[in-house]
Amino acid sequence: MVRVTQAFVPVLERSATPVIVNVSSGMGSLGRTTNPERIESRIVGLPYRSSKSALNMITSQYAKAYPQMRINAVDPGYTATDFNAHSGPQSVEEGAEIIIRAAQFGPDAPTGAYLDREGTVPW
Ligand SMILES: NC(=O)c1ccc[n+]([C@@H]2O[C@H](COP(=O)([O-])OP(=O)(O)OC[C@H]3O[C@@H](n4cnc5c(N)ncnc54)[C@H](OP(=O)(O)O)[C@@H]3O)[C@@H](O)[C@H]2O)c1
Repeated sequence: MVRVTQAFVPVLERSATPVIVNVSSGMGSLGRTTNPERIESRIVGLPYRSSKSALNMITSQYAKAYPQMRINAVDPGYTATDFNAHSGPQSVEEGAEIIIRAAQFGPDAPTGAYLDREGTVPW
């Protein structure tokens, strides 16, 4: 993610509406994975969760470094894809919604945020 971001920054700096959407997961949320009421707290897994938590911090730091850009992390939610043998209850269209929305953010939209379809995700 860092290599890709570094490669794109010079191009994004020439844009009137520069946007980065990092596709994170609720599995990277310390708030959700420690909340017994959330499904994210009921599955144990080290690499995926840790990498998504790291991606969240990468997002937060890039947002501070480039305040003229909209740089956010999004959680698509549990979505039926190859990744989970199509077990997710959401369609790909539903999962893609927040990704598309964040990709269309204008200059007044949030940056350094962690968002899903419902709103803000706890870090
Ligand atoms: N599905 C969920 O419930 C869920 C929930 C939260 C977050 N997410 C996140 O959403 C994102 C997409 O997941 P998904 O469910 O759509 O997974 P997926 O169905 O397994 O699709 C992953 C896609 O990534 C591509 N890919 C993998 N490694 C790559 C690489 N090194 N370079 C370029 N492309 C690569 C794959 O390409 P090929 O087909 O060519 O292999 C595939 O198109 C992931 O970041 C995942 O962590 C998913």
